Amino acid sequence: MDQTTRAEADLREKARNYLPGGSFGNAPEFVIVEGEGGRVRDASGREYVDYLLGSGPMLLGHNHPEVMEAVRAQLERGATFFANSPPGILLAEAICKAMPCAEKVRYTSSGSEATLYAMRAVRAFRGRSKILKFEGGYHGMNEYALMSLAPKRHANGTNPIPDSAGIPEVIENEILVAPYNDLEAVKAIIEEHHDALAGVVMEPLQRIITPRPGFLQGVRELTSKYEIPLVFDEIVTGFRLSYGGGQEFYQVVPDLCTIGKIVGGGFPLAALAGREDIMRHFDAEAVGPERFLPQIGTLNGNPIAASAGLATLDVLSRGDAYERLFENGRRLMEGLGKAMGDAGVESQITGEPCLFEIVFTGAPIVDYWSVENGDKKKLSMFNSLLAEHGVIKASSKFYVSVAHTDEDIDLTLQAFDAVAKEIAKH
Ligand SMILES: Cc1ncc(COP(=O)(O)O)c(C=O)c1O
Repeated sequence: MDQTTRAEADLREKARNYLPGGSFGNAPEFVIVEGEGGRVRDASGREYVDYLLGSGPMLLGHNHPEVMEAVRAQLERGATFFANSPPGILLAEAICKAMPCAEKVRYTSSGSEATLYAMRAVRAFRGRSKILKFEGGYHGMNEYALMSLAPKRHANGTNPIPDSAGIPEVIENEILVAPYNDLEAVKAIIEEHHDALAGVVMEPLQRIITPRPGFLQGVRELTSKYEIPLVFDEIVTGFRLSYGGGQEFYQVVPDLCTIGKIVGGGFPLAALAGREDIMRHFDAEAVGPERFLPQIGTLNGNPIAASAGLATLDVLSRGDAYERLFENGRRLMEGLGKAMGDAGVESQITGEPCLFEIVFTGAPIVDYWSVENGDKKKLSMFNSLLAEHGVIKASSKFYVSVAHTDEDIDLTLQAFDAVAKEIAKH
């Protein structure tokens, strides 16, 4: 690939000078200047096929004409009002029509806030405080979510391991942790703790780990039995696995869900949505002051973000967007598996076609530890070599887009072959 230009070197130096760790906290290895469809260009002018996709929102690809047109139209009318506005109201209607569990919607600016409020809402509803989450499950950066997200050691029973400095110890007492895909373990925890539990929070597709047949159904049955709200964090899976998200794709309907990424069309917008009797805690008149859950945010339901989200959902709800998305993903997953197999590199391809990853291991991928025990050095080598071959991805997954063309996929498959041969030498 071409050399790094002076302009990029200068930007990198400024980043080191003015940003902790030289980054926004996200993907510091790239300085991306622009994107079009399934490609992005960096500050040195290098073009990449993009499977980072802004960490997932850009399902329709970058600079989608209909989304940009909707954004420009709203920009002419004003950027933000701190009041109800048409795009946010219409987007709430679209969400309720799309997501099986959604009867009412509340907006936030980020997914981390949406999961924070989802947990608070089920606490308000149940009048209990503990949350059961899954080891390795990601729910953003709030205190309750940063528990056993990426533990480096096995936890003691259901006790969580905090993932960040600065989290008060008392929070640990409020979270119980279960292994994903282990229904017997979930059953034992719920049977023992049901009276203290406010809710169970989970990603229906946990990162890149698919649910075992019957697992989500089993969790749904257990939570229903004890009347514990089940929250699906669909910030990644909403409008991605299908238009109705993971709950439609896997045919298991939670009581509440969080959505983000795609629903904001690339702008800062997320939401929680769900059963009316839980969501009514955001309405002081409906529940009274003692049970009311205030939720004020300067940019909640921001009209530009909501316009982008509405246009994105409009495109997704018609035509063959999902067929195209899954066809692209299937070609990539198969091609990657074949490239590694032909080169004799031990690996597993895991996830669903719209979102998948390679794990360098011989063992099947069923839970956090089966991913964690994969060869991380090889993964990092894979990511760097791919970038050298003009393909970028998130550090731990491929996000596939509707906008990736056959040419993008062909180029990626060639890169897979070349990279697999290089990895085989190590
Ligand atoms: C499942 C899940 N939940 C929550 C979040 C947090 O969303 P945000 O980055 O918008 O705060 C993410 C972000 O990647 C996510 O993947």
